[in-house]
Amino acid sequence: MKKLLVVSVLAVASGFVQAQTVNVICSVQAEWCNMIGTVYAKTTGTKVNISMKGSGESLAQLIAEKDNPKTDIWFGGTGDPHLQAAEQGLTLEYKSPTMPQLQGWAQQQAQQSGFKTVGIYSGPLGFGYNTELLAKKKIAVPKVWNDLLNPALKGEIQVANPASSGTAYTMVATLVQLMGEDKAFDYMKKLHKNISQYTRSGTGPIKAAARGEATVSISFVHDAPGEKINGFPIEAITPSDGTGAEIGSMSIIKGARNLEAAKKFYEWALTPAAQEMAAAAKQFQVPSNKGAKVDKNVPDFKKIKFINYDYAKYGASAERKRLIAKWEKEVNSLPR
Ligand code: F6P
Repeated sequence: MKKLLVVSVLAVASGFVQAQTVNVICSVQAEWCNMIGTVYAKTTGTKVNISMKGSGESLAQLIAEKDNPKTDIWFGGTGDPHLQAAEQGLTLEYKSPTMPQLQGWAQQQAQQSGFKTVGIYSGPLGFGYNTELLAKKKIAVPKVWNDLLNPALKGEIQVANPASSGTAYTMVATLVQLMGEDKAFDYMKKLHKNISQYTRSGTGPIKAAARGEATVSISFVHDAPGEKINGFPIEAITPSDGTGAEIGSMSIIKGARNLEAAKKFYEWALTPAAQEMAAAAKQFQVPSNKGAKVDKNVPDFKKIKFINYDYAKYGASAERKRLIAKWEKEVNSLPR
């Protein structure tokens, strides 16, 4: 015993014991990524390397590094590409002991993936709008999807590109489920005329609307209050004819070089204290741990008309690839 103690003291003294490292891809907004990285590093002594990427881009990176993974854990981003990663064998099965403390939708996300991912937050899709620009242009607040086809909004709407952004893919999948595929694509073709830009990142459009570079955005509504707190004239609304929600997810990467560190980070990320950091970083999704405080800025799900989003179907590789390719060919290629 004594000998062991001496060895470990010597090891520490000589710097032999190295701090753990964890390599994280983070698909929420920068403030939240930075906060979890800093707090986790400070409280555990772990070296945290964070790389920030949108949901679709993260999946593309994991596919590219499949044979030689450089990432240990993927934190956040919409659930569909996490399900696709699970299906493609890019992520590791892991059953957290914290599972019973999570909301039903978060557990369902885990079950649907064979426990290769888990829900960490949820939030509804809707419209962001610049209150000053709408008033100036005398345009009514859009309340249903068809309101976005108003010719007065030509060149005034932004949404992200579904290939790089999980937000935009959630829009495509939501419209297909709400209207049926043919009508949804007709709708997106008409909407295309009013779009000024398809951004890379899902949060780009609401930031543009907040800053007056666009009048309306198609966004997760939980991304609006943060912009408002920062002083911008922005509000968000969910369409009264129905909308979808994301199940923001987290997955451990198969072949992770720092597997133990990844599991520790994963467990920490499921605790109420870690999940409450979202609101502290001005991001207002619903946390998946039932014990986490729900901030007053978090959208009230009871007041929203939701479609019955089929996460398994729209998170399947073939379906996601097919819909994105169809969107590229039939919508994005059209002149405006
Ligand atoms: O707050 C950031 C956020 O809206 C998350 O809720 C969501 O999972 C993520 O952005 C999606 O980002 P992207 O559309 O760029 O993949």
